[in-house]
Amino acid sequence: MLKDIGKRPFIRVGFAVFVLLIPLAVTSPKAMVRKLGRRWQTLHRTIYLIAALAILHFWWMKAGKHDLELPKIYGAIVIALLGWRVIAWMRQCAARQRA
Ligand code: HEM
Repeated sequence: MLKDIGKRPFIRVGFAVFVLLIPLAVTSPKAMVRKLGRRWQTLHRTIYLIAALAILHFWWMKAGKHDLELPKIYGAIVIALLGWRVIAWMRQCAARQRA
């Protein structure tokens, strides 16, 4: 694995995704959620960056094979889900301003 990481940039991105997922996995048990309080949410927001990097990893790998069909579908799904979060966040802000 260490040899591969040095070889191609898409593998470095995959490795970065793997490393970034570790703190989220470690802090996922209920006891950790309680212990971290608001900091838990701040930490777990890195999932947005992780999702984007995971798509980049996949895209880059498939670009070398000139086969971008699946990365485009996965990318569209992630963009749709993130768009949904942005809409929910904007609604929350608007509701808070009304209150
Ligand atoms: C140490 C970390 C990682 C390394 C070294 C790594 C390496 C690789 C390599 C070499 C491939 C190409 C396989 C092939 O040619 O068929 C690949 C494919 C892929 N990787 Fe990673 N990866 C890592 C982490 C991740 C993570 C964390 C994710 C997702 C969260 C991910 C998602 C994918 C996907 C979706 C593919 C395409 C699979 C396929 O279509 O066959 N990888 N990875």
